[in-house]
Amino acid sequence: MRKKGAQRERILHLLEEEGGVTEDAVRRISAETGVPEADIWGTGLFYTLISKPGKRVRVCDGLSCRIKGADELFERLAEQGKECERVSCLGQCDRAPATLDENLEQVCYGGVERGVMPDDPSLPMNLGGPRVDSYASLEKAKEIGSDAVIAEIEAAGLQGRGGAAFPAHIKWKGVRGQAETERYVICNADEAEPGTFKDREIILRQPHLLLEGLAIAAHAVGAKNVAIYIRGEFTSERRMIEKAIEEAGDKISDLDWKIYNGHGAYICGEETALIESMEGKRGMPRLKPPYPTEYGFRGKPTLMHNVETAACVPAIVERGGEWFKGLGRSEPGTKLYCVSGHVNRPGVYELPLGVTLDELVEVAGGYDGTPVAFSPGGPSSGFLPISARDVPLDFKSLANAGSMLGSAGLVVLNDTVDMVMATKWQLDFFERESCGQCAPCRIGTRYLRRQVDSFLADGDPDSLEFAGDVGWEMEEGSICGLGMVAAKPLESAMKHFPEVFEERSSE
Ligand SMILES: Cc1cc2nc3c(=O)[nH]c(=O)nc-3n(C[C@H](O)[C@H](O)[C@H](O)COP(=O)(O)O)c2cc1C
Ligand code: SF4
Repeated sequence: MRKKGAQRERILHLLEEEGGVTEDAVRRISAETGVPEADIWGTGLFYTLISKPGKRVRVCDGLSCRIKGADELFERLAEQGKECERVSCLGQCDRAPATLDENLEQVCYGGVERGVMPDDPSLPMNLGGPRVDSYASLEKAKEIGSDAVIAEIEAAGLQGRGGAAFPAHIKWKGVRGQAETERYVICNADEAEPGTFKDREIILRQPHLLLEGLAIAAHAVGAKNVAIYIRGEFTSERRMIEKAIEEAGDKISDLDWKIYNGHGAYICGEETALIESMEGKRGMPRLKPPYPTEYGFRGKPTLMHNVETAACVPAIVERGGEWFKGLGRSEPGTKLYCVSGHVNRPGVYELPLGVTLDELVEVAGGYDGTPVAFSPGGPSSGFLPISARDVPLDFKSLANAGSMLGSAGLVVLNDTVDMVMATKWQLDFFERESCGQCAPCRIGTRYLRRQVDSFLADGDPDSLEFAGDVGWEMEEGSICGLGMVAAKPLESAMKHFPEVFEERSSE
């Protein structure tokens, strides 16, 4: 059984090596692995980075890039004869409008140069204070043992930084308590929510902190295997992780480390879709329960964490949970906030969890123009009006305000932005990225985008009459978080900016 699974796990990698899905490639891979050709077609076509063979420049369609001229840039590159493709997100909102060249390397064809660059020494990103990469916390964790480590994680109040804010210690206990001894730790480095680029910065600036955190987690839950699933567009980030694993050498070589490439599908950031993808399948979320802590990668207990969550762990072990908790303002710890859009110095800033928008934007060089709205955590969080600027930027307060912190990818919009158009761009994103397995999400994302297109074309308010009902169906009837929040941009824009819709209205 495992043998068959092992062959299947290879197919995405083999398609990547072949340069994409072609008849010849599929035939060869099928002969080599025994996986039926139709199955390989179906799997490969799910992923944008391998669905179409051939090299091209990729231009980002994320909100920050659209408001900073992605459309014009795309046209200009096409006029220059470059083969171009528009993609949902490139994880470079601080360099908008972002592009990747034919070899998936980051380039700046038209983006601003003022984005904070990874090696900028003026930008702190210590996740708790300056550190040396001695792996001393890992040694300490081994010394004090699993119970004590998990107790510190619990005392720290560490919430998952991948978006759901789930208490980390519950998952650690869940995996450690399983009877099955083949266990996995997976790092979710798929970072693809438009507006978010903090994991990229951790990997580039503090790769050892990440590896040390994952190693501590693996020892604490009794896992021998650590996998890092990194988004396919993160070429230099992958190289950085490989280098760091090599540099760490003996300090972490008692664990089996593997890096898996993503292949261009936002949904693979969802934990069970990510596991499906690692198993060589289409990245379609599983029904939960069972949760990955019980039935994860290869059906085994799996602890999955976001890059930032894992990177918080060494300092917690070193300085104690209470210390970490005290760093936050309204919730425990510091937070890496990503800020882009209409601010003067887009970038990633580490601040106490619970600062306000004004405090964050002050660090980011101030507002560019007159702010009217912000999106606190990517398209999934919808929009808030600038009057919500005093809401603490934490998980609970933003949920109470009808939004979410999510992965803290804040995009600020000034009064030059057409809010209806911005709404449509966010809906485009969900329509494109829905995996399609649940009818409410598959049909609902398309329906909402079409209705907004129709409203933009003729201003007929009847186009939006059923938007609320459809949004409710999507929230109630979807398997995963994507479908549950996909109506949020429209719902929040209509709620907070009714005058913008009225102005456009033909009646
Ligand atoms: C549609 C969708 C996309 C997601 N994308 C990511 C992602 O890119 N990175 C991430 O760490 N978590 C992402 N998540 C959350 C993961 O499912 C999971 O909660 C997280 O990796 C757990 O790690 P944490 O406990 O450290 O937050 C996503 C969830 C959904 C529903
Ligand atoms: S809600 Fe959407 S993205 Fe999530 S599983 Fe269903 S169809 Fe796929």
